[in-house]
Amino acid sequence: VTRTFIAEPVLPPGRPRLVVTGFMGAGKTTAGRAAARLLGLPFIDLDEVIERRTGLPLNAIFERDGETGFRSLERVVVAEAARLSGAVVATGGGAVLDATSFAALAQGSVVSVLTAEPLELIRRIRGSAGRPLLDHGAEPGARALELLSQRAPAYEAAGEPLDTTQLDEVAVASELAGRFRGAGRDPLGRVRLDVHGPDSPYPVVIGEGSLDALGSEVRTALPRSVLAALVVDAGALGPAADRAAASLGAAGLKVERIAAAGGEGSKSLETVTRLWDRFAGVGLSLTDAVVVMGGGATLDAVGFAAATFARGVPLVNVPTTLLAMVDASVGGKVGVDRGPVKNLVGAFHHPRLVVADPATLASLPPRSLRGGMAEVVKAFVVGGVLGLDVMESMALEDPGGIPGTADLVWLIEQAVRIKAAYVSADPSDLGPRHALNLGHTFAHAIEAASDHAVPHGEAVAVGLVAAARLGAIAGPTDPALGDRLEVLLTRLGLPTRLPEGLDTDRMLDAMAVDKKRRAARSVFVVPAPGGVELLEIDPREALTAMSEPATP
Ligand SMILES: NC(=O)c1ccc[n+]([C@@H]2O[C@H](COP(=O)([O-])OP(=O)(O)OC[C@H]3O[C@@H](n4cnc5c(N)ncnc54)[C@H](O)[C@@H]3O)[C@@H](O)[C@H]2O)c1
Repeated sequence: VTRTFIAEPVLPPGRPRLVVTGFMGAGKTTAGRAAARLLGLPFIDLDEVIERRTGLPLNAIFERDGETGFRSLERVVVAEAARLSGAVVATGGGAVLDATSFAALAQGSVVSVLTAEPLELIRRIRGSAGRPLLDHGAEPGARALELLSQRAPAYEAAGEPLDTTQLDEVAVASELAGRFRGAGRDPLGRVRLDVHGPDSPYPVVIGEGSLDALGSEVRTALPRSVLAALVVDAGALGPAADRAAASLGAAGLKVERIAAAGGEGSKSLETVTRLWDRFAGVGLSLTDAVVVMGGGATLDAVGFAAATFARGVPLVNVPTTLLAMVDASVGGKVGVDRGPVKNLVGAFHHPRLVVADPATLASLPPRSLRGGMAEVVKAFVVGGVLGLDVMESMALEDPGGIPGTADLVWLIEQAVRIKAAYVSADPSDLGPRHALNLGHTFAHAIEAASDHAVPHGEAVAVGLVAAARLGAIAGPTDPALGDRLEVLLTRLGLPTRLPEGLDTDRMLDAMAVDKKRRAARSVFVVPAPGGVELLEIDPREALTAMSEPATP
């Protein structure tokens, strides 16, 4: 087995975080959770995460591993929290003691340190159990005062204090939310991320209302463009397309609307030649813009037409499926299918702007949304594993198990940051970006062997679990991850096991690099701590991992 490690890249900044820290008894968890609700952002309590991961209450972790052992667990989750954006994070009381990891979390965060008069803190601490640093002392109050004075300099350095002595939880939460709003941008406003392609960075704008800003964004990104060829996927017709056209028009662009059929069947050279003719017909030049609105197939085909017309017209992507938002719209790969081979003909043509408005998802069938969620889960597994904790805690709306809009925007933000980081690290897809194929060797085999009866996202869901199981057998993957993914994906309404009766020979054919030799080795991406590993193995070994039962 050949094994190659790919470390997770540094992520581009997204929205700021609100970090709530302070001494035990200061009310970090309660106030943090309430502030998150006020801000419409996800909440993560790092002590809770550590308890969940170890399956032990804090007291038991201290007993087993000592304070040093606990602090090293804490350092890991603090570093993971520093990879999330637009979230409220409550830390344990001692997290500030590790200056390096806390500084990484504080970077790009608004940090509030909850304080209270010592006697008030002691009063609050007395009312609750499970304080590992106090439970063994003869006089918890005296021990608390001693710890408090030891830690005072670290708390002072950590962030802005908020004295909660006279405040109830509601007041603390609203003060926290107010400070965050004052310091950062409107947390419910648009998210802006920069993706570094081979040329200058391009913005990805995510959020409700971003469609109405499409015109002004195009003007800023492409100041020389006069004409916008607005190509709209048949699936994305309706109010969203009208809003996009109106916004482009209001920004002074001449808009030519062009219809596209959409879907995999239209990802063809026929579509591309038709587009070339339309572009020529409306007089599109290489200083204008092609604005494409649609699913991944439409983005790929129209992007290829834009890449090749007049040797390359600037491209603006307006994805209208969740998969297109979190994956196809960012990264520069454009192309079409040829015969039975997907993406056989294509190019790299990075967009100059991406605008993702969740309003465009309103007409999307729930099954397609769920499929996109599989790619979000993949993104977290390869680049931000604490995101899985957040996803597990999200309320899902019925029918279809889809989170509400604010959560959806958050998930898109995180997934795009992770994809963008890999694209920036590897714009031409020659190395590190292969990490994003996690679960996909399996998925493509399932799609092929089922004659595409299993949609891509569902095949990816099965593939993610298989990759985790394979990784656990091969070594690098935490054996608990496979079970965890099964539970999460099932909750999201996605399959996690191979469909009954799938032809394994056809799967092997699809997985083998050399189609004539089934025993050829193929590359499988498996999760590893701090990144992924590429395993080059016989696909038959991988197949057995797919039928691996869940650990009891
Ligand atoms: N370029 C890349 O980096 C990249 C990455 C991932 C996937 N892809 C490609 O993306 C394609 C899959 O994309 P997809 O999952 O978006 O599917 P899709 O583009 O095939 O769209 C599925 C269907 O949804 C319709 N649709 C689009 N937006 C809609 C909306 N808002 N409401 C209702 N219907 C809508 C489409 O017309 C189509 O019929 C594949 O061709 C894949 O190869 C490309």
